[in-house]
Amino acid sequence: MESRAFELIAAEQARQNNNIELIASENFVSENVMRAVGSCLTNKYAEGYPTERTSGKTGRYYGGCEVVDQLEEYCCDKWREVFSTDYHVNVQPHAGSSANLAAYFSVLKPGDTILSMDLNNGGHLTHGSAVNFSGKLFNMVFYSVTENGFIDYDDIEKKAAEYRPQLILAGASAYSRIIDFKRIGAIAKAYGAYFMVDMAHIAGLVAAGMHPSPFGIADIVTTTTHKTLRGTRGGMIFCRPELAKKVDAGIFPGTQGGPLMHAIAGKAVTAEEACAPAFKEYIAQVLKNTRAMCDTFISLGYDIVTGGTDNHLFLIDFTRTHPTLSGKDVQNELDRHGITLNKNCVPGEKRSPAQASGVRIGCAAMTTKGWKEEDAVACAKRIHEIITALAAK
Ligand SMILES: Cc1ncc(COP(=O)(O)O)c(C=O)c1O
Repeated sequence: MESRAFELIAAEQARQNNNIELIASENFVSENVMRAVGSCLTNKYAEGYPTERTSGKTGRYYGGCEVVDQLEEYCCDKWREVFSTDYHVNVQPHAGSSANLAAYFSVLKPGDTILSMDLNNGGHLTHGSAVNFSGKLFNMVFYSVTENGFIDYDDIEKKAAEYRPQLILAGASAYSRIIDFKRIGAIAKAYGAYFMVDMAHIAGLVAAGMHPSPFGIADIVTTTTHKTLRGTRGGMIFCRPELAKKVDAGIFPGTQGGPLMHAIAGKAVTAEEACAPAFKEYIAQVLKNTRAMCDTFISLGYDIVTGGTDNHLFLIDFTRTHPTLSGKDVQNELDRHGITLNKNCVPGEKRSPAQASGVRIGCAAMTTKGWKEEDAVACAKRIHEIITALAAK
């Protein structure tokens, strides 16, 4: 049977094979993750939770769930093993955004105050953007970064004292440094706020022990499974055991219907892979490659937000070095050369987010393709040539 859809899938496969992929939130999953996500599990309705999970009361709303019950329990156990935690986990969120929506609803009411990281400085849409449910439903207040782009912990304390938020949120989409969860957690405790960490970007580093863990500090931890964790597209929520019922109710029936059991199968395979020793080696190589690439840009005279990186990404700020170029110009030009990345706002941004004055670069995906430090250095030099030619036009 001829299928336009499969023609397009083949075209996208070719694009993924040929391009250099530097989008910090992307990765390439294993064949086994693909097999799980493309399996018969997509056929099964399983609204609710495995029966044992919540004192036997909730259960599933459909018959025939004896296998998926075991799969979901196994998936949860495996993720607790990945993060060496006894936190409760809900593996049903369809995405990181759905995880955040349900997490907020589990402990907050509309109109409550959330203190989160300023979106222009690295926060995510679901951390309070005016065009997102978070900004429409909650009273959002933001902490800032210092002039150099580091999280301003004193500002968190100041804003917590001033606004008395019900929840303080840590975590970002574009922040290249270690986040001090202990310090933010202590501020949340002092002001009686819930402490939530959205570790979507750095979850793979946390799993590998290469970023401090939020477990034991945060009340709620949300994540995606498809960035540095290198798994199927999806979300998860972890919480202290005493919040389990609220978090589960926040997902179902609060914000979702039937879980995507094929995605849960994919998450289980992802967890198996994250437990294997090879995953630690992978994350260690991601960090080496990112550092090598970032250092090359520094030696070529570029300004890097915060002056460097501790994780899988970094941000280049063109404001001083290439004032006529926007992040969008650079993104488009690199696209023409088969290099994929995204424009990004920088601290003190003067342009609109649609233009931006910087780009975000991540090495998680290309490390999966086998990159070593010399490949990262060569790519930085190639990008420099392309940017130099573009600026001279
Ligand atoms: C920190 C953070 N949280 C949440 C999300 C949302 O994840 P999703 O795109 O799966 O909804 C992202 C996505 O980039 C993110 O960076």
